[in-house]
Amino acid sequence: MFEDEHVLQDEYTPEKLIERDEEKDDYVEALQPVANGGTPRNIFVYGDTGVGKTVATRMILDELVTDTDEFEDVDVEIVWLNCKGLTSYQTAVQLVNSLRGSSRKISSSGHAKAAVYEMLWSELDDRDATHVLFVLDEVDSLGSDDNLLYQIPRARSNQHIEDTHIGLIGICNNFKFRESLSQRVKSTLCETEIRFGPYDAGELRTILNQRADKAFVDGVLDDDVIPLAAALAGQNTGSARRALDILYNAGSLARKHDDDTVTEDHVREAVSVVEKGVIEDELRDLPTQSHLVLYAIAQLEQQGETPARRKEIYEVYEGIAERGEFDVKAQRTVLDRLGQLSLKGFLHVNEVNKGRGGGKHHQYELDVKLDLVLTVLDEHSRIVEATGNQQLSDFT
Ligand SMILES: Nc1ncnc2c1ncn2[C@@H]1O[C@H](COP(=O)(O)OP(=O)(O)OP(=O)(O)O)[C@@H](O)[C@H]1O
Ligand SMILES: [Mg+2]
Repeated sequence: MFEDEHVLQDEYTPEKLIERDEEKDDYVEALQPVANGGTPRNIFVYGDTGVGKTVATRMILDELVTDTDEFEDVDVEIVWLNCKGLTSYQTAVQLVNSLRGSSRKISSSGHAKAAVYEMLWSELDDRDATHVLFVLDEVDSLGSDDNLLYQIPRARSNQHIEDTHIGLIGICNNFKFRESLSQRVKSTLCETEIRFGPYDAGELRTILNQRADKAFVDGVLDDDVIPLAAALAGQNTGSARRALDILYNAGSLARKHDDDTVTEDHVREAVSVVEKGVIEDELRDLPTQSHLVLYAIAQLEQQGETPARRKEIYEVYEGIAERGEFDVKAQRTVLDRLGQLSLKGFLHVNEVNKGRGGGKHHQYELDVKLDLVLTVLDEHSRIVEATGNQQLSDFT
């Protein structure tokens, strides 16, 4: 079935960037000053998950480094850091460490923040490179502490460093993050903004074709497989990651069933496998208190008592939280969680009117499969760990 399945996976970098010509032009324009020995514009890249922000940035910067290799007096160094799970402070430490040799690394705690910045500036000043471009991927992890994002682009104008030109590229898939930045950061980091929109079915088809040529043995894909995978991913998300995932799973299913070719049916089956996986991941990532609330509703659902009102849910929640020795939160907090779970699509809310003058109340039920919720919550390590390897079902 597969000639090289790795080609369909996330880490693989294609040889040529396709379907992102405009975004590439914007990049090139912002980075143009590098070639003339000047300071590049800072760039803020945003767009939904899976639309090629990371892969395009990597490929464009690789090209920049290769192109400037020919220039005697320009030497570009890229420092790439994925900020997922890091605070602003930890990010600064990691940046220092990525500029330092292995014998001079610093530990990720115990230094004053100002001292870490000092180390960063002095490393930068000592660089052989004329230009250092920082890429902070998934930069929204830094949250509201955006001092680092202010300091890096200003390091030269604030005379912390003399020689090296600095550029900052921030990538994120959470547009609210941009809104949350302070004005002073917005005006530096967001000098150039590049938006990566969702792909349409036609673009996804081109992307899938490019990968499929290398990934699959010749002739194993039925003609309608790529158009269908592209159409389904295009309708739902516009994510190339999702489209590639569907294609990969369709191939795996065909292999598992010992079929000779990948068919439309495999694609449809793959879509449900992938969607189930996505829901599972989202469920798993919820905070513990949300898990407890969700579990309470799952209990009610199992007993045929949904849709249920907030009060009923709270009583079950309270029982589980007490028996499991979790923090028992107030009704107010549980109501917040119910709202969040509904927003994320895990719950369905009905508004029930109690007739004239009777006011109204809300009723909740699961909007995802009951057994999926139970499996994920029972496997969920944080809860299982917190309770000494007991499962939530032990507390009901
Ligand atoms: N234009 C493209 N050409 C070829 N492959 C692409 C393209 N865009 C995206 N991909 C592929 O889709 C997958 C997801 O892309 P990428 O990791 O760049 O997404 P992202 O926008 O950074 O998502 P996230 O916000 O989740 O980090 C990768 O496997 C990538 O190679
Ligand atoms: Mg990315």
